[in-house]
Amino acid sequence: MNRLATYQRIARWYDLLDAPFERKRYQPLRPLLFAGLSGRILDAGIGTGRNISFYPGGSEMVGIDLSPAMLARATRRRDEVGRDVALMEMDVMNTSFDDDSFDAVISTFLFCVLAPEHQLPALVELARICKPGGEIRLLEYSYSKDPMKRFIMRLWAPWVRFAYGAAFDRNTHLYLEEAGWEEVENRFLVDDIVRLIIARPASE
Ligand SMILES: C[S@@+](CC[C@H](N)C(=O)[O-])C[C@H]1O[C@@H](n2cnc3c(N)ncnc32)[C@H](O)[C@@H]1O
Repeated sequence: MNRLATYQRIARWYDLLDAPFERKRYQPLRPLLFAGLSGRILDAGIGTGRNISFYPGGSEMVGIDLSPAMLARATRRRDEVGRDVALMEMDVMNTSFDDDSFDAVISTFLFCVLAPEHQLPALVELARICKPGGEIRLLEYSYSKDPMKRFIMRLWAPWVRFAYGAAFDRNTHLYLEEAGWEEVENRFLVDDIVRLIIARPASE
């Protein structure tokens, strides 16, 4: 099943299924993504809009997603929170934004959903639309090196693939340089499982 079909199917259950992880694991991490950011900011793969409550005040926010059903949920959350966010149906690999459109791009758990062959084109596209001197910040999963945690993650993997079209082995940071990004930070925030990646467009 392709990613669009997966998220069209799961949109109505997404927040419910993710609730335990959202409360315990993701909510403390989301504000870190936005610390110090301002200007025009893109939330790529916005999903149901879980980041919206943490958007920096005064910033001009834009959210894109492939799935209209997920965007419908994000619209509802945007209106509940009362934030001005432009929501658009778009593929992160082929957006309609002009070059250098954003001061920053953030993305939470999008790249673990993209297939390995889509990591590079997505990062190239985000480099195109991010201003020089701007920044990309990603939260992404990796397999733990701890044998027991890795074993548990392997047990989870078929469900994660079925429900979310996602995987723990995307290693998005390995594509940054080829895509025109210079890595400035890469550190784990939850054990050696969830990492924060920060990069800037490489200077020519
Ligand atoms: C795991 S969810 C994460 C949602 C949200 N960022 C969060 O932190 O809760 C991944 C999201 O990426 C979207 N997505 C998948 N492929 C995409 C693509 N090629 N372009 C844009 N969005 C995409 C899905 O529809 C889904 O809403």
